[in-house]
Amino acid sequence: MRSLRSAWTRFSRPVQCWLGVVLCVAASGVASQTVATSAPPVAPAWAYPTLPSTAPPAVTDDGVPHQLAGSQHAFTRAQLFDLFTAHDWFPESHPPMPAVVARGRAPEVRACGMCHYPNGQGRPENAALAGLPSAYIVQQMQDYKAGLRRSAAAQAGPHLRMVATAMHVSDDEVRAAADYFAAQPYRPWITVVETEQVPLTQVVTGSMWAAVPGKAREPIGQRIVEVPNDLDLTELRDPRSGFTAYVPRGSLERGRQMATQGEGAVMACVSCHGPGLKGMGLIPPLAGRSAQYLYRQLNDMRQGVRAGPGAAAMRGFIGQLSPQDMIAVVAYAASLPP
Ligand code: HEC
Ligand code: HEC
Repeated sequence: MRSLRSAWTRFSRPVQCWLGVVLCVAASGVASQTVATSAPPVAPAWAYPTLPSTAPPAVTDDGVPHQLAGSQHAFTRAQLFDLFTAHDWFPESHPPMPAVVARGRAPEVRACGMCHYPNGQGRPENAALAGLPSAYIVQQMQDYKAGLRRSAAAQAGPHLRMVATAMHVSDDEVRAAADYFAAQPYRPWITVVETEQVPLTQVVTGSMWAAVPGKAREPIGQRIVEVPNDLDLTELRDPRSGFTAYVPRGSLERGRQMATQGEGAVMACVSCHGPGLKGMGLIPPLAGRSAQYLYRQLNDMRQGVRAGPGAAAMRGFIGQLSPQDMIAVVAYAASLPP
């Protein structure tokens, strides 16, 4: 199996020539600049939602077959919450899912398509896999398995289930899933809105923020508030119903400058993630992906808990990004067309 390290080395040569010395400095990495100390990692609650223990139990089995407009299928909530079957509203909209994507392999390998959706669009509490380079997906699975990709929120439920899956999945299953998701086009999914006021939100089942019903608003402060456009549809795992990310005013312009020009020691993101942040070679695309997810990744790298071979490329400058910088740059990335 090709590792990202070798692929990255191979790939980075032309970029090194192109960028001159800058990339060599960044790629060699200065570990001391990463904020990795013995203190517990910083994991702001807005970016790492956890369901409060006082939350009323979710209705996971109402016995009612639900339907979605345009789909010939009907599923109960109990079916839709089953971690070992990716219930598929629109099987005609994508090639047949490999077994590991559709059903996983009990008792440990959960169905990839359940959490990430059969079309790979994903949700803010996990990740979009559609359109990622296949070898990048393979490498990330190795990183989860090797303990090189942990979460700054050590007890984050979705992350722990991802790791448990990665620990038990076979190389062949990973390759099949990676090829499948890499071939899916990633579609526009996140609407980014700059604002001062946001809806009041609460954490709902699935470890995701959602707007509290009603018209109550509060100041956004320094955070990203990402919520389903339609909670009812998202609870039915509608793979066509996306999300809105509210971001502080001024984020998009500030993020654009950082992403396209860099700042101080921080390299321009486009120099590696490609024009429009659409990805380059094995370096993943960022354009149009969940701002909350992207923020968690930057924070996890900054805290030193995401530290696979690929993450070394960003180690030289990640410690220079403030939380505000990270909000701005991921807001900009999420706002771009995939
Ligand atoms: C229980 C839900 C769940 C299942 C099932 C699941 N994942 Fe994940 N996956 C997650 C979560 C949560 C994350 C985000 C973790 C993080 O922040 O590092 C994630 C992240 C990923 C990533 C990182 C994406 C990126 O952009 O770097 C890859 C790759 C991935 N999953 C592949 C898979 C594959 C392949 C399977 C099936 C074998 C699978 N996942 C099954 C929840 C799940
Ligand atoms: C020197 C090259 C380089 C530069 C510059 C760079 N990145 Fe990265 N980035 C990478 C590589 C390589 C990865 C894959 C990391 C891995 O394999 O874990 C990555 C991964 C990421 C991820 C995780 C994506 C995912 O799907 O999980 C985010 C978010 C990210 N970069 C954001 C940024 C931002 C924002 C900037 C600009 C401030 C930036 N990067 C600049 C090389 C770079």
